[in-house]
Amino acid sequence: MNTADFIPNNFNFSIEKASYKWQTPSNIALVKYWGKSNPQIPKNASISFTLNNCHTITSIDFEKKDSEGIEFEIYFEGNKKEEFKPKITTFFERILEYCPYISAYKMFINSENSFPHSSGIASSASGMSAIAMCLLSLEKELNPNISEDFVKRKASFLARLGSGSASRSIEGPLVVWGEHPEIPESSNLYGVQFPFEVAPIFKEYQDTILLVDKGEKQVSSTVGHNLMFDHPYAENRFKQANDNLNKLSKILQEGAIKDFITLVESEALTLHAMMLTSQPYFILMKPNTLKVINEIWEYRAATGSNICFTLDAGANVHVLYPKNEKDTVQSFIEEKLSQYCQNNQFINDYAGLGGTKI
Ligand code: DP6
Repeated sequence: MNTADFIPNNFNFSIEKASYKWQTPSNIALVKYWGKSNPQIPKNASISFTLNNCHTITSIDFEKKDSEGIEFEIYFEGNKKEEFKPKITTFFERILEYCPYISAYKMFINSENSFPHSSGIASSASGMSAIAMCLLSLEKELNPNISEDFVKRKASFLARLGSGSASRSIEGPLVVWGEHPEIPESSNLYGVQFPFEVAPIFKEYQDTILLVDKGEKQVSSTVGHNLMFDHPYAENRFKQANDNLNKLSKILQEGAIKDFITLVESEALTLHAMMLTSQPYFILMKPNTLKVINEIWEYRAATGSNICFTLDAGANVHVLYPKNEKDTVQSFIEEKLSQYCQNNQFINDYAGLGGTKI
């Protein structure tokens, strides 16, 4: 599908009022997206586990209006948030061509996250995908002929225009975003479910997120992505990521968990290596991030566990492990790793199935 396929032409505008509520999750990339061109086109393909417990719940009330233009109010956890408006306005302006109906309604957006406020967990993926699903619920009511597959595809397409990683938060448990020769149907415009059968060891994969640092990041993802222009290692990195996705696809199908560990940890460290070697350079890891990584390596060496880590663009550590190690690894996290977390806080999560309508 190309961008023109997402421009609608057929509506029944008789709906005066409507209200939809969606819960959509965050996701954690195994092969990372870092570097993009306009409009939100990734420089390489990426793949992520969709999470389950870390999610956003968003409702949008639509009220028909006579005036033209985008009009909305946004509330976050019960409070009106004027400071969220510029980002959401940019998003609505970007998607207006694909969702002309939004200018016919005043929108009242109410949003809340399941994870603690300013936990350092990126909320853009769950936040943008939840808005996208609410818009598609309206679109489906205005034009009942669109299929469920189209709804998901377009929601991912819209979410991507809000935040790249959000394109991977509509479905689960594994989603690929970015055109890749080995992944049928893959696209730079939207995420697709990983199309192959995954070995049992990778089903309901566990992710405990250690809240090492809950503060605001010094460098936003958007700024970080831009630093990949003129980056001395950029071209190699984009090629490596696509090669890694190819390898990971086989690993997931074959159940080669030791290779999974090596590849996933290398991806995390490479992402941060790109930050260390940007101009200007920056460091998002904190001392406790490194302490946790070393503890994980020691534990793995001592016990033969299949625990491993990944990082997103921040100091928090995602601890990944198969479901059959849930009890032992969670004891290790409580006894050993929680001391490196702010207020000993961590969130137990696992690979889930994507958004749900409430
Ligand atoms: C490190 O999706 O947050 O988490 O498209 O500018 O909103 P924007 O960036 P964003 O970048 C995510 C980067 C990452 C890796 C990943 O999720 O693939």
